[in-house]
Amino acid sequence: MGNFNDGFWNLFIIVCTLGGIFAMYLLTAMNSRATNPRATEPDAMQSGAIASRSDRPAGDGGVETMGHVWDEDLTELNNPLPRWWVILFYLTLVFGAFYLVLYPGLGSNAMLLGWTQVKEYEAEMAQAEERYGPLYEEFVNLPIEQVAADPRALRIGERLFASYCAVCHGSDARGVPGFPNLRDDAWQWGGEPDRIKASILAGRNAVMPGWRDALGGDAGVEEVTAYTLSLSGRTADAAKAAAGKGRYDALCVACHGADGAGNPALGAPNLTDDVWLYGGSEAAVRHSIAEGRQGRMPAHGEFLGEARVHVLAAWVRSLSQR
Ligand code: HEC
Ligand code: HEC
Repeated sequence: MGNFNDGFWNLFIIVCTLGGIFAMYLLTAMNSRATNPRATEPDAMQSGAIASRSDRPAGDGGVETMGHVWDEDLTELNNPLPRWWVILFYLTLVFGAFYLVLYPGLGSNAMLLGWTQVKEYEAEMAQAEERYGPLYEEFVNLPIEQVAADPRALRIGERLFASYCAVCHGSDARGVPGFPNLRDDAWQWGGEPDRIKASILAGRNAVMPGWRDALGGDAGVEEVTAYTLSLSGRTADAAKAAAGKGRYDALCVACHGADGAGNPALGAPNLTDDVWLYGGSEAAVRHSIAEGRQGRMPAHGEFLGEARVHVLAAWVRSLSQR
């Protein structure tokens, strides 16, 4: 599709567009005349007898009918289109022709006004910059906590979130498995204002390797899974959990900590709070441990600019403070 703009496809669209308009003209012209001379025959005016002469009976006023009859005597007449109606059709064709001269519609030709979607987008962006620019300037120089207390900033933040973040985190920011809930108090990468801002600016790449081999296969995975569930007070097979503790201490403490409280510097989640990024079922936890997880939050700094990210961070921060 890369060369959709040139050569054959350009010509194809021009031919289709002009051909379509010409076909509409033909259709209108054909339908604006009486098509059947019988319809205007004088003796067609005398009703009754005509029905036997023609397989298409005459309707009221002797005009030829389409041959359809409903409810015993309701017939569909074959009149030419009314003049005002035909004129309206021609006017739409003339409008279409003018439109095509002014705006791009014939392939990739820019036409008289030189309008493009890109230009319109840029004009709108410039307008928005003019309107919101000073406001962002004001916010970006204030501490995030203070911005988070300003209703104007929260309104902007909410709108930015709907445009840029809701696709992944959900329109209510409560997330779905794999995409964290931003309303709760559990922070994988830290919930302090600056940590939140850093998460948005530069993105986050979580690396949790799969452990099946290191745990000596599925039996080892079962044991560590039992121990992991017990960390947040869930019921787990006591014998398996006891065996799993040794393995946890050897393999997992480096990132999740000896007590399982996690490490925001590495994005290693707290395993003791029963808040689960990938779902809390035993199967989901087992899967995380056996296969590993590599969650990725894309960087938004370059794309949105620091001022917008600052306001977004304030809004996200305000969610868990309510
Ligand atoms: C190198 C650091 C590291 C080590 C070692 C590590 N993890 Fe992780 N773990 C992480 C990170 C980072 C995540 C978050 C993954 C993500 O966000 O995609 C994670 C996620 C998890 C999850 C999913 C949590 C959730 O909320 O869904 C579980 C369960 C887990 N780890 C258990 C373990 C166990 C058990 C071990 C030891 C066998 C272990 N981890 C070893 C870094 C580590
Ligand atoms: C393409 C999907 C995607 C988009 C778009 C996205 N995020 Fe994320 N975000 C994620 C994922 C996945 C994670 C978790 C990464 C991990 O596993 O550590 C995350 C993590 C975060 C975190 C860290 C949460 C914590 O517990 O520490 C914050 C804050 C955040 N996102 C805010 C935002 C904001 C604000 C936006 C909009 C500018 C946004 N995200 C857009 C996918 C996305």
